[in-house]
Amino acid sequence: MNQDTLKQSVAQAALAYVPEGEIIGVGTGSTANFFIDGLAGMRERILGAVASSEASARRLAAHGIRLFDLNEVESMSVYVDGADEIDGNFCMIKGGGAALTREKIVSTVARRFVCIADVSKKVPVLGKFPLPVEVIPLARAQVARALSALGGRPVWREGVVTDNGNIILDVHGLAITEPARLETQINQIVGVVTNGLFAVRPAEVLLLGTPDGVQVFERD
Ligand code: 5RP
Repeated sequence: MNQDTLKQSVAQAALAYVPEGEIIGVGTGSTANFFIDGLAGMRERILGAVASSEASARRLAAHGIRLFDLNEVESMSVYVDGADEIDGNFCMIKGGGAALTREKIVSTVARRFVCIADVSKKVPVLGKFPLPVEVIPLARAQVARALSALGGRPVWREGVVTDNGNIILDVHGLAITEPARLETQINQIVGVVTNGLFAVRPAEVLLLGTPDGVQVFERD
C-alpha cells in the first residue's frame, strides 16, 4: 500500500468528524487535499470552511465550498490537517508546506484538532524532519544565528515565500525532547513569526493510516 493510499484513507476517515451545519477549519498539504476532495461530497451538509492557506482556499472554492474569513468566525468544533511528524503526546512538527502560521492561527480557534497522517509520520521523538520557522525577511540572518545558538542548523528554504510574505528557515539536527518548551523559546526570538512546533496545543485526535487500516487515537 503506498503513502497516498494511506493518506486517502485517513482523509476519508476524518469526514466522520465533520459536524453537520457548521464551519470547519481546513489544513494544507497533500493529506489535507484528499480531505478537501472528500468534503466536496458533503458540501451541502456544512456551512463552509476556513482555509489555512491560499492553496487550500482555491481547492475548497473549486469544489463549491463556501469560504469564511477567520475574523468572521468565533469558534469551530473541528480543524482537520496533516503533519510532518507527530509524537506519542500528539505534539507535531508542521510547515513542510510553508503554511504553519495560518495553520496555527486557524487551528487555535477550533476545539478539536484532528490530525490525519500516514504511519510514516509517527515518531518517538520530534526533530528528524527539519523544523520550519517562518521569519520576517529582514531578520533572516539574525534569526538564523539565534537558532544555531539553540543547537540547530538552520537552512533557508530559498525561493519560498509564505502566504504572509515571509521566508522559511528549516532547522536541521534538533532532537526535540521538550517540544512545548522549544516552541515557546523559538517564538521569543525577535523576527520569528511562528515555528512549526504544535506542542503548547497538540492535536486532540490522531487518525493514523496504516496498511492494516486507520487507527484512531484520542487525547484525554
Ligand atoms: C503544511 C503542513 C502539512 O500538514 C504537512 O507538511 C504534511 O503535508 P502532507 O500531508 O503533504 O504530507 O504542515 O504546511
